[in-house]
Amino acid sequence: MDIKISASILNADVNRLEQEIASVSDSVDWIHVDVMDNHFVPNLSFGTNVLESLAKKKIKPLDVHLMIENPDKWALDFVAAGADSVTFHYEAAEDPTKLIKEIHALKSRVGLAIKPNTSLADVKEFLSDIDVLLVMTVEPGFGGQAFMNKMLDKVREARSITNDKNLKMWIQVDGGIGLQTIEQAAQAGADFIVVGSAAFSTADPGKAMQDLRELAVKSLSI
Ligand code: DX5
Ligand code: ZN
Repeated sequence: MDIKISASILNADVNRLEQEIASVSDSVDWIHVDVMDNHFVPNLSFGTNVLESLAKKKIKPLDVHLMIENPDKWALDFVAAGADSVTFHYEAAEDPTKLIKEIHALKSRVGLAIKPNTSLADVKEFLSDIDVLLVMTVEPGFGGQAFMNKMLDKVREARSITNDKNLKMWIQVDGGIGLQTIEQAAQAGADFIVVGSAAFSTADPGKAMQDLRELAVKSLSI
């Protein structure tokens, strides 16, 4: 299993967003952009304009996490703005199958996200069609929350299905990942790991990202 790290900029200092991203760019594989509409979650964040500006700089591939109502209507705008991967929430989508096809048609990767109260059974029918399953390990909405251990059962189940059926899907975890939790997440089978405040709250986010990656990789060889 090849570990990919995605840096969530939600808790980065937006006044110095470019420097914040530069500080982790050698240590991560993707930049995770959290899009919130103040309806699906009680918070508001970045829109297509921020994405477009990041995409122009071509620093890293952009992994967009849509925490919005009606992704059926808005998701393609994020592909057009330069997303390399667009993840929408199962709970918010009207027609996931249609949206998966539409995103793929625009040559972007596509992810399906599930909130803590949504079970894996609800999305099983989509697993062979998506590139990423995002198992939320906190309630979506804010950075810096505590990791929900119970979600590891879903990650394990998703890993076993992925291996049994030889799916190409990556398994992403998002929320509360840090020194205390990244090993468990990797051991449970997550290979696409979002890290936000655990790195951006330190003096050296790049080093923090590297340390976390090393821990995850090492935990797989035990
Ligand atoms: C939460 C967001 C996360 C968040 C992760 O709703 O989807 O991407 O920024 O931040 P940390 O790693 O601080 O939990
Ligand atoms: Zn996210």
